[in-house]
Amino acid sequence: MAVQHIVLCLLCISPFANALYKQWIPDTNFENTTNWDKGSVPCGNDRVMFLADRKVSVYVETAHAITGMNLPMDGEFILASGAGFSVRDGGDPDCGSGVMAQFKDCESLKWFDPSLWVAAATIDYLHGGTYQFSVHEESVPCRFDDVIFREATSFRVDVSPNGDVPVKSVSVFGKKFISSSEFSQFLSSNSGKLQFHGSSSLSIGGPGCDDITGCVCGNSVNRDKICANVKCESLDCKTPLHPVGHCCDVCGAIVNVKFSLNFNFESYRQRLQHLFLSLHKYDSIKLAMSKVSKDQKLLGLFPFGVSQEIQVLLLDQKTGQETGKLAEVLARDIMKDIQNHGSNLGISSAEFQASSEASGNRAGVAAGAVLGSLVVVGLLVVFVILYRRGVVKIPRIPSIPSFSKWKNSSEVGELGGPLDHGFDNPMFDKPTMMPEEPGLYGTITKNSIAMTQSGVYFINPVYDESDLNA
Ligand SMILES: *[C@@H]1O[C@H](CO)[C@@H](O)[C@H](O)[C@H]1NC(C)=O
Repeated sequence: MAVQHIVLCLLCISPFANALYKQWIPDTNFENTTNWDKGSVPCGNDRVMFLADRKVSVYVETAHAITGMNLPMDGEFILASGAGFSVRDGGDPDCGSGVMAQFKDCESLKWFDPSLWVAAATIDYLHGGTYQFSVHEESVPCRFDDVIFREATSFRVDVSPNGDVPVKSVSVFGKKFISSSEFSQFLSSNSGKLQFHGSSSLSIGGPGCDDITGCVCGNSVNRDKICANVKCESLDCKTPLHPVGHCCDVCGAIVNVKFSLNFNFESYRQRLQHLFLSLHKYDSIKLAMSKVSKDQKLLGLFPFGVSQEIQVLLLDQKTGQETGKLAEVLARDIMKDIQNHGSNLGISSAEFQASSEASGNRAGVAAGAVLGSLVVVGLLVVFVILYRRGVVKIPRIPSIPSFSKWKNSSEVGELGGPLDHGFDNPMFDKPTMMPEEPGLYGTITKNSIAMTQSGVYFINPVYDESDLNA
């Protein structure tokens, strides 16, 4: 009950969807030791050097004694009250013999680099350091996010390559810009020009996300720009997964959730947080939840539309033999929770994939499905050609039912025996699962959802809506 309470209360703080605060990490502050080549802020016997051909805006919080300074081509100091530079007579006894301290080059820090942002659901979480993990595309600000550059920091961000970058708002130095006109005024100021550079323009004042079931980030159009900044690690697992919106394959587990209109994205995220991630055994798990668009493919080949679902990506930080195993355990826990409470949560169905599963099953089924559908298409084509040429005649309609008989027989399951639905859950057998996609969907859901105890993931040969082949 206590848990339920917390969940409810967190809900009142952020009733809406998955809009986030995204905060830029690096700064160009004078006092930040990471900005200096020697790893420490220059002291009284040091000389300060800025790269001559660079532009930079530097926030200075306190007073500093130095012996001299080489200035950059274009730059500014933003001085907090009491801050400034002076030369101390007779040197600084606490400063050693004096060095040339060089300010780091911050020219290449890119807006589209996912490692340079942190995300949080509220401002309080942001300040408290309660960050959310996201897939790469969503680590970079989405169109409905509020973008924050920390108060009392200067920075330099490269917003390129070309393109329009829509966000809801941008806060700089404690001032929140919510319209493009206001922001372009700032951009034409000295600080604005030094802090933002590059060929893209930020467009501010987007509507934010007001869909309680969540919003699709919209950064898939920027995928190449984002992934250009990501280096993928080599993986230890048998069947790496390809999460939607992530630049790299991963070892872990993915739960794909189909939702109905009363699904609440943020409250479900909080639920997973409090029911599972707060458990000691799941300390090492990183969870990224997003609403994603998936192409629907008829026969696994022909795109005919887009469906939305909730992707829950689970990564444990284990290596070697252990990699992905804990994530799979959690995925099973989440499936159990959905089995018991899914209908109350607005979840109509779910399935999961785990990288620790043997590769044979899934890949085999997928390949079989594609092959099977190709054979069917091939036969139909041959038949039509022969029919047109008059080689074959159709006596009566009954030759068609044989096709639908084949379709029904897929009920039997790929492995010959009756399809193992795992735990017998009425929720997953409801024919009314996707209200948005009537017809086609309803009739075959029974096959495409295959939650079995072994986690094997069956694919209906007639209808493959996954992107396994993408
Ligand atoms: C200094 O900069 C680093 C990275 O640029 C950042 O992670 C860190 O929070 C900054 N330190 C302070 C005290 O702001």
